Amino acid sequence: GLRKKEVNVLCLGLDNSGKTTIINHLKPTNTQTQDIVPTIGFNIEKFKSSSLSFTVFDMSGQSRYRNLWEHYYKESHAIIFVIDSGDQLRMVVAKEELDNLLSHQDIRSRRMPVLFFANKMDLRGALSSVKVSQLLCLENIKDKPWHICASDAVKGEGIQEGVDWLQDHIK
Ligand code: GTP
Ligand code: MG
Repeated sequence: GLRKKEVNVLCLGLDNSGKTTIINHLKPTNTQTQDIVPTIGFNIEKFKSSSLSFTVFDMSGQSRYRNLWEHYYKESHAIIFVIDSGDQLRMVVAKEELDNLLSHQDIRSRRMPVLFFANKMDLRGALSSVKVSQLLCLENIKDKPWHICASDAVKGEGIQEGVDWLQDHIK
C-alpha cells in the first residue's frame, strides 16, 4: 500500500498536565510504559493512525524547560496542547504560555491545527471543556483550525477522538 504521510506534532502544556500519559496511550501496546515520570527536556515518540505516521515531540512543561519549546515550532505540522482541567489555580499560567505560543513568529502566520485536551476530566471539580475553552479564550483563535476534547488519560478516554480530529485537519 501507500506509505503513510509523516507528520511532526509538538505536544505542549504545563508540567503535570498529562502530556506523556496521553502520548503513551497512542503508542503501540508493546512500547507503552507503566511508570510515567516527569519529562526532562523532551522525548521523541512515534505512533501511527490510519493514514498518518506521527512523530511527537513530548516536551517537558516545567518552567525551566519551556524555553525549549520554540526551537521545535518551525518543523511542526500540528500542536497538541494539554491542560489539567483540575488545576484552576494555574489556568492563567496555561493561558500565558498558550498566548506566547500563538503569537510566536514561527506559529502566528500558519494554518496548523491545534488540538486541546482538557485532561483529567475524572478529577472531582475538574472544569468542563467548554469552561476551559472560555478561560483560555480559544474562540479568539481565528487563523488556525482548533478543537478541544475532554480526556482522562489514565483510562484513555477522549484521546482517540482528538487524534481522529487531528488526522482530518492535517493537510
Ligand atoms: P511534564 O513531563 O512534567 O511536563 O508532565 P506531563 O504533562 O507529561 O504529565 P504526565 O503525563 O507525567 O502526568 C502527570 C501526572 O498526572 C501523572 O501522575 C499521571 O498519572 C497523572 N494524570 C495524567 N492524566 C491524568 C488524568 O486524565 N486523570 C488523572 N486523575 N490523572 C492524570
Ligand atoms: Mg511529560
